[in-house]
Amino acid sequence: MRTQVAIVGGGPAGLLLSHLLHLQGIDSVVLERRSREELEAEIRAGVLEQGTADLLNEIGVGERMMEEGARHRGINLQFGGRRHRIDFHALVGRGIMLYGQHEVVKDLIAARLAAGGKIIFEAEGVGVRDLKSEGPRVLFRKDGEEEELSCDFVAGCDGFHGVCRPCIPESACATYERRYPFGWFGILVKAPRSSEELIYCLNERGFALISTRSPEIQRMYFQCDPEDDVANWPDERIWEEMHARLANDEGWDLIEGEIIQKGIVQMRSFVIEPMQYGRLFLAGDAAHIVPPTGAKGMNLAVGDVRVLSRGLAEYYSSGRTDLLDAYTRTCLGRVWKAQRFSWWMTSMLHRFHQEDEFRYRLQLAELDYVTSSRAASASLAENYTGLPVE
Ligand code: FAD
Ligand code: DHB
Repeated sequence: MRTQVAIVGGGPAGLLLSHLLHLQGIDSVVLERRSREELEAEIRAGVLEQGTADLLNEIGVGERMMEEGARHRGINLQFGGRRHRIDFHALVGRGIMLYGQHEVVKDLIAARLAAGGKIIFEAEGVGVRDLKSEGPRVLFRKDGEEEELSCDFVAGCDGFHGVCRPCIPESACATYERRYPFGWFGILVKAPRSSEELIYCLNERGFALISTRSPEIQRMYFQCDPEDDVANWPDERIWEEMHARLANDEGWDLIEGEIIQKGIVQMRSFVIEPMQYGRLFLAGDAAHIVPPTGAKGMNLAVGDVRVLSRGLAEYYSSGRTDLLDAYTRTCLGRVWKAQRFSWWMTSMLHRFHQEDEFRYRLQLAELDYVTSSRAASASLAENYTGLPVE
């Protein structure tokens, strides 16, 4: 089997890259470890930056998003029992789109398959070879048969636990990492919306977040012990904790419903430099992870493949490698700014050590400043709605 670009991983990064390449006449094959059903059912991100939503529209995969997604013009920050709105539109003239990552994945898979694109689901034992040569190869098993895909380039879009990043020798890269002493407990709830826009809340008991997926399905998170087990959290305990954290003086109340999914997410910041090794280019979570508080992960993945697709298009149209050579530099400028923003939002909104009252007071003062200073609110709005890709 042969293709121009072999893409390992069929998450948002891999699928979008395949579609962007197709639009420029470049052939690719996506190798995905999981089944289509598993991919389309995984509940993860929900916030699309304006630029991400605009891109999906420009490339013809935004139709369902425009019908079913919700355009939000701001978010709320709650602390000390009071709610403060950050009005993105008034501050920076753009907003965000609430639309589930798995819906984006569904739309991209449908678009690829409709255009005759090749996605190999349930590809097992993927391994990449000869990355420093002009003819890299990807080995895998499909239905018990050993297969080999030869290509010009490999795109490592296989997420944080994928096989591509470990192929870069330690001597050829540097990694930067931070872990956080808490995780997020996420729930999916069958209930009407409690709030028109997201609520990020800091309370003495910890962080809580109210988000949404549709008028009928809501997404909520609360800070928990990263080693905790969902079995320790029967529904009644979850609601008790959510009500306690979201207690307020505004007469607002959380609407409960049937909890249809529970899960715990670890929190980590991570970057590998460079994002390239020979003919392997890493994109998305394979190259960097942010804690979810800034809602940046999927948006960064989209930014990376946008840059990569331009570099590959330049190479195939003119033989020039200027854009590919600049891939790491172009992406990392944005990645590190998103790292800073995600780390800052996380630090401001979580309880670190229950007994550290000094730190908690500083966090409350920071929230007070961010919500009362136009300059500080505008900085949050500018970062949250998305910095330019290049
Ligand atoms: P992934 O989505 O991880 O996709 C990688 C794919 O590669 C997977 O399908 C995997 O099965 C496949 N794969 C792995 N190994 C192999 C292999 N060996 N062979 C073949 N295939 C392989 N981001 C936002 O922007 N906004 C948010 O609101 C947001 N909220 C989040 C909330 C939660 C609870 C979580 C967990 C994440 C959130 N994120 C958010 C982050 C976002 O989900 C990720 O950044 C995004 O999924 C990255 O996309 P990706 O394609 O790079 O990687
Ligand atoms: C959602 C996820 C996030 O990480 C975030 O910061 C806001 C919303 C969500 O899943 O809806």
